[in-house]
Amino acid sequence: MKIATQKLTKVYCRGTPNEVKAIKDATVKIKEGDFCLITGPSGSGKTTLLSLLALLTRPTRGKIFYEDAEVSSYSDAWQTKIRKEKLGFIFQQYNLLPQFSAWENVALPNLCRQMSKTERRSQAISIMRKLGLEDRLDFKVAHLSGGEQQRVAIARALVTDPEIVFADEPTASVDEETASAIIDLFKALKKEGKTVIVSTHDNSLIREAIQHLNLQSGTVV
Ligand SMILES: Nc1ncnc2c1ncn2[C@@H]1O[C@H](COP(=O)(O)OP(=O)(O)OP(=O)(O)O)[C@@H](O)[C@H]1O
Ligand SMILES: [Mg+2]
Repeated sequence: MKIATQKLTKVYCRGTPNEVKAIKDATVKIKEGDFCLITGPSGSGKTTLLSLLALLTRPTRGKIFYEDAEVSSYSDAWQTKIRKEKLGFIFQQYNLLPQFSAWENVALPNLCRQMSKTERRSQAISIMRKLGLEDRLDFKVAHLSGGEQQRVAIARALVTDPEIVFADEPTASVDEETASAIIDLFKALKKEGKTVIVSTHDNSLIREAIQHLNLQSGTVV
């Protein structure tokens, strides 16, 4: 199994009046090369489950395994190393740096690699071309439209050629044409044999799924 979980549970604000059990006893199995979709209503725990699987937040209870290694027990430093080397994450709210240019945002994950600025820029440009961003390279992110920012966020997640790609509603705030370009890109990732885990409401992505996890109030049904 590429990723597996055992009784994964995430409780926010535990022991307070605002306590939320966002994920309850989730046991999931995702094979290498799977195209796994996570669906469910707003507030059902999609972002939380993705963040747990991508080691961005720690579970309250339960375990996460990558290829049989229990990564949920690793130190923060080891988890960060895994995230840098193997994972790409496309955030629902993009999490871009608005004062930096589009290409600098895309190249950011390569800052800690031994690469010259020219190499970093040319690698960023090649992925940005695929996403139709070639004439926005030097624009400040703050000056880009929502759909363009979404594509910059996707380019940044893919620039390191990660083994596993996580995407949180990647087509939610773009027009139909951009959505279709994004879906084509995900189809290409699937063809390349990458493991892709996406939360979505988009029916055209749902058609591509190999595995489909539906969440209802934090429970995988
Ligand atoms: N940091 C947090 N602190 C407290 N509660 C949180 C936190 N993050 C999420 N929650 C709560 O956990 C539940 C699940 O949230 P989550 O963001 O995972 O849902 P979602 O399925 O991604 O929703 P959406 O479709 O609106 O993005 C919600 O009830 C939310 O209010
Ligand atoms: Mg969400």
